[in-house]
Amino acid sequence: MDIKTIKKQFPIFNNQNIVYLDSAATTQKPSSVIDSISEYYEHFNSNVHRGLYPLATKSTEVYENSREKIAEFINADPDEIIFVSGATEALNGLSRSLILSGLLTKNSQITLTQLDHHSNILPWQKLTNKDIDYITVNNDYVFDLEQIKSIKTDLLAFPLVSNVTGTIFPTDSLNEFKGITVADATQAVGHIKVDVKKMNIDFLVLSGHKMYGPMGIGVLYGKKKLLEKLPPFNVGGGMIKQVEEQDYVPSSGIEKFEAGTPNVADAYALSKAIDFIQQVGIDKIIEHENYLKGIFLKELESMDNISIFHSRQNSTGVISFSHNSVHAHDIAQYLGDNGVCVRAGHHCTQILHKYRLNIPASVRVSFGIYNNRDDVEKCLNLIKASIKLYS
Ligand code: ALA
Repeated sequence: MDIKTIKKQFPIFNNQNIVYLDSAATTQKPSSVIDSISEYYEHFNSNVHRGLYPLATKSTEVYENSREKIAEFINADPDEIIFVSGATEALNGLSRSLILSGLLTKNSQITLTQLDHHSNILPWQKLTNKDIDYITVNNDYVFDLEQIKSIKTDLLAFPLVSNVTGTIFPTDSLNEFKGITVADATQAVGHIKVDVKKMNIDFLVLSGHKMYGPMGIGVLYGKKKLLEKLPPFNVGGGMIKQVEEQDYVPSSGIEKFEAGTPNVADAYALSKAIDFIQQVGIDKIIEHENYLKGIFLKELESMDNISIFHSRQNSTGVISFSHNSVHAHDIAQYLGDNGVCVRAGHHCTQILHKYRLNIPASVRVSFGIYNNRDDVEKCLNLIKASIKLYS
């Protein structure tokens, strides 16, 4: 694959000389995505679902076509796709709505995993009176299929891909699962094939900015028969059938979940991000991430006093590590000062760091389609140099 040509599509790399290895925090954006935001405002801007003039029809068409594209991309139906600002809004809204619907109560059993991101922990903590159970991972940061199959719970929420170890959740274990399943797919979309039907997922959330799309747009997917039972989590204009002095009747279908003027421009840009991923091809993306990961891990494993937090069995290109005596922030700062962008900290996974890794912080390297062998080698050399400097 010609990474040079792909990389040229990302203006940020033409404007500055950086090695960007923090794609798990947010990916860089190709010009097709960036330009589509101006294109929307220059050619299509109008409010959706209300105007009776051609421009409003066009804007609505752009918005609904984007919904269709994302639906097809994850093998859902368009009336199962709700646009939100991102995964965090989706999980907060979903948890509130599940309680309001009675599908969950404050006494329902919630099961999460040690690998969950705070945005898939806090909304569930807020709603339950019961202690939450946490599924553990083994020494290779892999989930036990049989353990998951045997779990009896009302709701299981999990990261489809971990933002620390790259672990891919074994969705095969969900075939017979009885409770509600909620997948945080923020680190999965654009890195693995996501098929909500095959994976037997009830609800799934994603953020556009982690899949080469813009910030401020995301998706809540829900199985149609479940969405029908959920009340809106936001209320206001554009989501009602009837308003009376003391009450209202919400619209039917997904419209009831999209109160207010939606983020049409970024929904359009998200559809361009999907075009980009499809043009490169998900199989090629997987192959490339595995190639980079192979080079990085081989060298990292040969270094002294390094602990690696990454699943070797079934994972994406997200690798975290720590050094016995040099602090993660010192390593990341040194890399940053020398033009290599990585993340250090707990990566919004304090439970994993405190109870499983037993460290306050790790360094995380995460690959995107624009990275190449030189990036990996530069990063490795700087890691070695930082350890030498601070040891
Ligand atoms: N959740 C993002 C990360 O893992 C911000 O870095």
